[in-house]
Amino acid sequence: MIIKSLKLHNYRRFEQLEIEFPENLIGIIGRNGAGKSTIIEAIGWALYGNRFVRSDKHDVRLQGTDDKAVCSAEIVFVYGGSEFRIERKLKGKNATVEAAVWRNGQAEAVAVQDAGVSEFIESLLQLDYRSFTTSVFAQQKELDKLSTLQPEQRRQAINRLINIDRIDRARERVRADRNEKQTTVKGQKAMLKDIDELNARKKRRMADHGEMKKQHAALRMHADERSKRLARARANLQAMTHVRDQFRAWEAQMTVLQSRLAENEKNHQRSRDDLAEIEKAEQELKGYSVLLSEMSSIKVELSRLDAESARHSRLQSRLAEKKTIQDVLDREQSNRRETESRAQDVQQLEKMYQELSLDIEQLERAIEDIQERSKKATGEKLAAESKGVDLRQKLAAIHKMGPDGSCPVCGQRLGDYYGDVIDDHEKQLAELRSLYSAGKQAEERADAERKDLQQKLAQRRSARDDLLVRLKSAQEAGELLGKIEQLIIGYEKQMSTIDAAIDAMGPVAYDEDQHRRLKARYEELLSLQQRAAKLEERIDRRQQVQAHIEAIVKELHAIGTEMTAAQTAQAALEFNEAIYEQEKQNVEKDEAEWNAAKDELAQAAQQVALIARDMEAITKEISEQKVLAGTIRAAEKEILYLNILDDYLGRFRLDLAGRIRPLIAQRASELLSLTTASRYAQLDLDQDYNIRVYDGNRVFPIERFSGGEQDLVNLCLRIAISQVVAERSGGAPINFIVLDEIFGSQDAERRDLILNALAQLSSQFRQIYIITHIESIRDMLPVLIHVELKDDRTSRATLL
Ligand SMILES: Nc1ncnc2c1ncn2[C@@H]1O[C@H](COP(=O)(O)OP(=O)(O)OP(=O)(O)O)[C@@H](O)[C@H]1O
Ligand SMILES: [Mg+2]
Repeated sequence: MIIKSLKLHNYRRFEQLEIEFPENLIGIIGRNGAGKSTIIEAIGWALYGNRFVRSDKHDVRLQGTDDKAVCSAEIVFVYGGSEFRIERKLKGKNATVEAAVWRNGQAEAVAVQDAGVSEFIESLLQLDYRSFTTSVFAQQKELDKLSTLQPEQRRQAINRLINIDRIDRARERVRADRNEKQTTVKGQKAMLKDIDELNARKKRRMADHGEMKKQHAALRMHADERSKRLARARANLQAMTHVRDQFRAWEAQMTVLQSRLAENEKNHQRSRDDLAEIEKAEQELKGYSVLLSEMSSIKVELSRLDAESARHSRLQSRLAEKKTIQDVLDREQSNRRETESRAQDVQQLEKMYQELSLDIEQLERAIEDIQERSKKATGEKLAAESKGVDLRQKLAAIHKMGPDGSCPVCGQRLGDYYGDVIDDHEKQLAELRSLYSAGKQAEERADAERKDLQQKLAQRRSARDDLLVRLKSAQEAGELLGKIEQLIIGYEKQMSTIDAAIDAMGPVAYDEDQHRRLKARYEELLSLQQRAAKLEERIDRRQQVQAHIEAIVKELHAIGTEMTAAQTAQAALEFNEAIYEQEKQNVEKDEAEWNAAKDELAQAAQQVALIARDMEAITKEISEQKVLAGTIRAAEKEILYLNILDDYLGRFRLDLAGRIRPLIAQRASELLSLTTASRYAQLDLDQDYNIRVYDGNRVFPIERFSGGEQDLVNLCLRIAISQVVAERSGGAPINFIVLDEIFGSQDAERRDLILNALAQLSSQFRQIYIITHIESIRDMLPVLIHVELKDDRTSRATLL
């Protein structure tokens, strides 16, 4: 297998990469983080899918692109004479993988989908993913791991590389399987029982079964016999019951006839009593004929008296009515007289009223005059009084000042006029006093006069008010008089109408006592008449009663005949109650015996079934035990085979390891000789893959050599492993190998030697990819792919 080309799109750091790989020693050079290992990872991803990715599958897509960006890898490789092209894509938010593989440019894919393509590659190369990586990749840091590991871990690592660990795992599975089976068998054996003992038990139960069946047959015969006897007894009892039922029927018939007889005899007696009653009634009715004729004449007289009584009561009510109207008329007539006299006063009262009114007017005027006078007198009195006050004050002032004072009129000194002035003032005062008392007297007189007149005026006014009341009443009486006269005329008319009606009635001759007596007699005769009617009713039934008696006599005769016949028929049955009861008891006894026999039979049947079930269970257990024994035998056989397989696998492993180890050691020795220019020509591997290197003709453990020499030995060992794994794969040879950063501690001379040695391997590996960040070896490599980081932080790979 060789890789022809690789195309990447949005794969990790590569936005776009297209590169063709020639067949040669190919150097992939670039600084740390440039994307060298990514190129190789992409080849692995195209072939085997996500398992090849060193981190989460989501990390593969170019950082910074969104979910819509498709990340893809496409490789073309040649294998077994055919060219294959694989395209693998990672899509969408969930990083779903799509893949397809085509052979020799054919349009139709030979495998599709993620798993489909991976499986196709595994079967094509006959290498699973792990074997592929082991044979093809010496991965970065892997060589360091080999040299620094403890012996046991190294042994495990190498076993893993050459797939011996798979045999170990297979052996572990075989042993686990065997142990599990052994545990199961142990458990099953604990459940095993003694089959001979089970067979003996089965035989014993079979004997019990036979015995029980015999007993069952005997009990069945006994039960059959009891059943037959019971059937006979029941048939006998049934026949007797039939006779008894007939006997009872006749008995019932007799009872019916006897009750009918008694009933008819009772009826016969009752009818005869009826007839006697009728005859008595006929006798009684004869005595009632005279009374009935009296009753009819009384009835005529009574109806006359009833009519007269009606007229009499009508007359009475007319008279009562007349009396009532007469009373009202009398009352109204006296009312008229009284009203007439009231009405006659009107003129006189009016005259008196006018006179009084005149009188009142005069009085009112006189009072006004007096008031006027009184007012005047009061004015004069008050004027005298106020003048008097002034004069007294002046007089008091003159007295106080004496003669030296000035005149109140002219203002000159009084001097000698003092006495005159005082006298003059005294005189004026005396006049004013008399004026005052004259005014006061006039005032008092006028008041007394006024009071007297006012009293009179009040009397007149009250008299006039009384008169006005009387006058109004007289005026009303005048109006009332007309109405009363109308009423009187109406009442007088009613009186004459009633008188005319009384006259029209004519003379009334009604004797109330006679009427009462006749009524009482009639009531008496009426009850007798009712009695007579009842008697007649009874007499009317005579014929009917006689016919009824005749019918009863006939019925009595017929019942007698029927009873004789029934007695004869019943006696003919010859039924005996005691014998019948005895037969019933016999049947009950037979039934009890039959039931007991049935129970015994059922119990025996149950026993038979029980034993049969027991036998069945034992038989089942025997067959289950046989199956169990068979299962145990089969499992023991399997355990034996598993033990053999374990042994074979162990021996195979030993053999394999024994054969592979020298082969790896031989291949590694050849490489070591080449890379050291035969300085070291041979190495050895012990069982634990501890490496021993020959220096001259002495052998030393690897630790004895320098760090660089140890790295070189490990590289040789790793390439030798790749060679052996590739050689041993069943398919066509894998012609390429990838060595990622293998130079580590090697000096320039050693690096040259390694590269030379690798060039010599070109017969086996047509493409050797050497990944390194060491720029100085670029001249040593015939083909170079330069990987570099661009400014936009994506990578570019260029074939130089
Ligand atoms: N999805 C991605 N998008 C962008 N860059 C990524 C992505 N995945 C990984 N990288 C980066 O790509 C770079 C290349 O890694 P790679 O292992 O190929 O480098 P290298 O050239 O082998 O370096 P060294 O010499 O150190 O081994 C790393 O820096 C890594 O972080
Ligand atoms: Mg790397």
